[in-house]
Order: sequence, then structure tokens, then C-alpha cells
Amino acid sequence: MSGSPVIAIDGPGGAGKGTVSRRLASQLGWNLLDSGALYRLVALAGQRAGLAADDVSGHARVARSLQVRFGQDEGGREQVWLDGREVTAELRLEATGAAASRVAAWPDVRSAILEMQRHFARAPGLVADGRDMGTVVFPKADLKVFLTASPDERARRRHKQLKEKGLSANLAALSREIAERDLRDATRAVAPMVAADDAVVVDTTDLGIDEVVSRLLAMIRERCPGPR
Ligand code: C5P
Repeated sequence: MSGSPVIAIDGPGGAGKGTVSRRLASQLGWNLLDSGALYRLVALAGQRAGLAADDVSGHARVARSLQVRFGQDEGGREQVWLDGREVTAELRLEATGAAASRVAAWPDVRSAILEMQRHFARAPGLVADGRDMGTVVFPKADLKVFLTASPDERARRRHKQLKEKGLSANLAALSREIAERDLRDATRAVAPMVAADDAVVVDTTDLGIDEVVSRLLAMIRERCPGPR
């Protein structure tokens, strides 16, 4: 690791990790690693290459040669390119998340993108969002947080998020998909989604985003002294 501070934020989908991690990175002026996006990109790249959904070695090959670029449009909105093509909207589809969760269960795919993820740890610091940031990718992170929320609340948040993006969503179907994805992520043999022994568990069911961000900022200031 580079010696710069690393904050690992893990937990299930819909617990607020993405929003909280982005807000923290922006307030601290640090780098952000959205590791879920990398698994989503592997799934998309596999589809684009015409791979069968169960082609493990094909997906590992695609993962090793992933050409991605993260950027922003003129309005400051995040954009993602895969092999030179803009895939931002496709990346966020629920179907892409489900496909990502299937390829993420394969050890060869996980090891293919391990070093790429570690390269995000650069000055002045990194906020890393995922499922195994504190357990596998950054085991020496300065602060490890495991964000959770009740399954109902997480489904409700996902539903709201998708509607805000103008995407259609059915709450009951989302609840089922979230439960399926949680089960697959938590029970896979390699790097299952689990709180690291030294993680601080924060239940966000009854907390607003501002409250979560300010609690975490206080923890970061305590653990990572320095000007910020
Ligand atoms: O967080 P997001 O919904 O984008 O993640 C998509 C999927 O990628 C997750 O359901 C999980 O299976 C996988 N993932 C992972 N390890 C990470 C981040 C995401 O296995 N560090």
C-alpha cells in the first residue's frame, strides 16, 4: 500500500455505501474506489464478448484486460467507459448487478482485479466501497466500516434510486432480488461479504445520509490525524 490512508466501506447493497463513500471522498478530497462497478464491468464486458454466462475462464480473461475509464460529464455527473464506449446507464441496471454478483463468486475473476483495486490507494487517501475491502483488498485499512440496514429499508432505497433515474422498478421483485444477491454474496466460498473482525458496524436503517456521513467523518478524523 502507498502509505496514504485507506477507509474500507463494506456491506450489502442498499445500505447507503455508494452515496456515503462518494460524499466522504468528495468532502475529504480523496480518491474513490467503487469496486462493485468493476465487477459490473466484467459482467458487461463478458456479455459484449459473447461469453456464455457460465464461462469462468473467459470472464477471468476479460477481467485481466479490462479497459475502463471513470470520468464526469459537463454537469459533473459520473460517467464510465468500457473499451471506449460509454456504459454509465447500463452499468447501474439491476440486471447488471445480478450478473456482477454471479461473476464475482469466481476466484479467478476476483484475483484478476485484485491488484487493479490496490492501485487506487494513492495520496491523499482512498475511500474504498465494496464487499471485501476490509477483509481482502485492504486488510490494513486505517478504518473499516460495515454499513447495514434492514432488508425492507434497503429494497425501499433501491426502489427510490431507480425511480429517480427514470428506471422502472417493482418493490416486491426488488426485495426478492436483494435477498438472492445477499445470499449469494454472503455464502460464496471466496471473499464472502462479511464484516471484518475489526470493522465498526453501522446500522443505517433509521439514519439519514448526513448523519451517517458526519459520524464516519468523526471516526476518520480520529483514526487518520492530519490536515483535512
Ligand atoms: O455494489 P454493487 O451493487 O455495485 O456490486 C455488484 C456486485 O458485485 C455485488 O452484488 C457483489 O456480488 C459484487 N461485489 C463483490 N465485491 C466487491 C464489490 C462488489 O463481490 N468488493
